[in-house]
Amino acid sequence: MKNVIVGQSGGPSSVINSSLAGVYCRAKAMGADKVYGMRNGIQGFLEEQMVDLDTVLGSNELVKLLRKTPAAYLGSCRFKLPDPEKDTALFEKIFSLLKKYEIAAFIYIGGNDSMDTIRKLTDYGQKIGSPICFVGAPKTIDNDLAETDHTPGFGSAAKFIAAMTKEAIRDEVVYSTNKTIYIMEIMGRNAGWLTAATALARGADCPGPDLIYLPEVPFDLQAFRAKVAALLEKKNNLMIAVSEGIHDASGTFICEYADADKAVDAFGHKQMGGTATYLTAFCEKEFGCKTRAIEFSTLQRCAAHFASQTDVNEAFQSGDKAVEAALSGRTGLMATLLRANEVPYVCEIGLADVHHISNVERLVPLEWITEEGSQVSDDFIRYALPLIQGESYPVMENGLPKHLVLK
Ligand code: F6P
Repeated sequence: MKNVIVGQSGGPSSVINSSLAGVYCRAKAMGADKVYGMRNGIQGFLEEQMVDLDTVLGSNELVKLLRKTPAAYLGSCRFKLPDPEKDTALFEKIFSLLKKYEIAAFIYIGGNDSMDTIRKLTDYGQKIGSPICFVGAPKTIDNDLAETDHTPGFGSAAKFIAAMTKEAIRDEVVYSTNKTIYIMEIMGRNAGWLTAATALARGADCPGPDLIYLPEVPFDLQAFRAKVAALLEKKNNLMIAVSEGIHDASGTFICEYADADKAVDAFGHKQMGGTATYLTAFCEKEFGCKTRAIEFSTLQRCAAHFASQTDVNEAFQSGDKAVEAALSGRTGLMATLLRANEVPYVCEIGLADVHHISNVERLVPLEWITEEGSQVSDDFIRYALPLIQGESYPVMENGLPKHLVLK
């Protein structure tokens, strides 16, 4: 038996399909008979919702288009597997389905929660003596996975965010005679990597954001007020970047100040959103000037037209590595991106034990957060700059990017 199954899980990115292409191409090169794609991750697999990738990706042209298509081609899910010790019935079902489809290698492309799935399947498989290998391919714009220098998805989202920040700053200063406060809200949950990426806009033609707030440091509304007041004494237009996950010292998210009843997903993550709206309303009241909330929201993780070529390549290589390991009989691992050299930037693809990755969050080092928690240092710039290099132009049709869509 030499079939492979691959799924995508969690919030998508603009390069997650490049990882899928990497899995598919390497699996075929290693002689896999069939490569199945799970529709909507493990949740779809449980309902035997699968697609034969040879049928839908049968040509180089289509694989190329897949690499340029944002979001999860196979669909995604946020489905938490139960503890294998407590609910063996579900695991028995999964393993009997894997046997039915003669699966040798199971690849899951995702973030911390998806690596939780790989860990549980590995542990259960080892317990029952199954020969099936489970390996993860990393994916998250949040860049918060342990054991890897960075994650596929981050570089492209960071590139988009930095470019948008630069352009929004140009836009804002046109009304330089009036006071304005723009607040940009950026994804990343409890990790501030993406919000820090707004600092990449800094350069000879752009000052970058005036204030940058990451969730790694508790947010104090009155200290924020004082900083804004001091800045407004010196300049009229302020651009402020905030992470969606900033919270006060008690752990309450700032977005909960306006809406205390945030929904919670299967992994216990609160639905984020609304931080910039809350803070602009606060500033409007305090300072009586024009404000604007800019929520990058979904746009930051699907902007494949502005993806980083470095990121697209590394996403492909990590998918390739994951399936190579699994088809070579290795299990319980995740492909990792290792910075082998700083300048020139060299990235090698490695493997790490998924037990050290699942449910762990890798945050921005506190020493990279400066000016009482409201800026980031040049160490961050040195870290992130290589990851946004290179242009990945979309396949264009009728003046717009063309996408590969699963019917
Ligand atoms: O984990 C990736 C991520 O994009 C987070 O940055 C964000 O908080 C979350 O997913 C949003 O998830 P969803 O699209 O399921 O609401």
